[in-house]
Amino acid sequence: MSPNCRFDAVIHFAGLKAVGESVQKPLLYYNNNLIGTITLLEVMAAHGCKKLVFSSSATVYGWPKVVPCTEDFPLVAANPYGRTKLFIEEIARDIYRSDSDWKIILLRYFNPVGAHPSGHIGEDPRGIPNNLMPFVQQVAVGRRQALTVFGTDYNTKDGTGVRDYIHVVDLADGHIAALHKLDEDKIGCEVYNLGTGKGTSVLEMVAAFESASGKKIPLVTSGRRPGDAEVVYASTEKAERELNWKAQYSIDDMCRDQWNWASKNPFGYDTSESTK
Ligand code: UFG
Repeated sequence: MSPNCRFDAVIHFAGLKAVGESVQKPLLYYNNNLIGTITLLEVMAAHGCKKLVFSSSATVYGWPKVVPCTEDFPLVAANPYGRTKLFIEEIARDIYRSDSDWKIILLRYFNPVGAHPSGHIGEDPRGIPNNLMPFVQQVAVGRRQALTVFGTDYNTKDGTGVRDYIHVVDLADGHIAALHKLDEDKIGCEVYNLGTGKGTSVLEMVAAFESASGKKIPLVTSGRRPGDAEVVYASTEKAERELNWKAQYSIDDMCRDQWNWASKNPFGYDTSESTK
């Protein structure tokens, strides 16, 4: 790093995030997510930059006994991916205990969806999408035939899993709010949920996307996906109170912006259609 180049704070988003892959290749996940973070923290300390915002995940709540999830819930990890998030949270807490100059905010993301409203920036997973909305999007543009609904026998309004979907622009704003918070005097190591506080089922998401896109999403039902929780949504009180941040976008907004991105870029960033 050039001596003239100073960093005030770091937002650490980088990491592998596919649950199934993490079960197959745990060392890849521990190496990339854990060693990568430790190296970053060492470099930050060596250069006197001790302000960090880290992307954690609601996966650390596992299958919560009650909802909404508050930040003081017990933490668990059901797979190597989740364990990397949990371990990094613990590493961050240890670092602060050892050196109170650090100011660290751990952001627990719920289910980020949507795209930038311009339609120029969006999610473009490689291979078969693991997550619901990228899969739905690929069905809508004709790249896949049908969405498989994992589990229709949950104790929810329509039997399908319930999650807290949050627009990526709201999520991005949550990071700006966290950066501002790091400028306050006493932060320590704090954790905040980034969600909307509202639960939406798989079938409700599909219906919202169908009306945003005007496309029919054919469904195939199957059994529960191993490791999936029934209902997960956030308590947003702490983030509202302490970060002065609250999600603004609705499920319809998320689907509108995701469809805008998908219809403009049916093959994501790949113009050769080779990822078909
Ligand atoms: N689902 C389907 N079909 C699919 C994909 C998903 O029915 O093809 C269902 C799931 O069973 C679940 C819901 O859609 O009920 C959401 O599933 P996602 O895979 O989109 O999201 P998850 O809640 O499983 O996982 C996400 C992130 C993880 C993160 C977790 C935190 O992908 O990285 O939220 O709860 F850890």
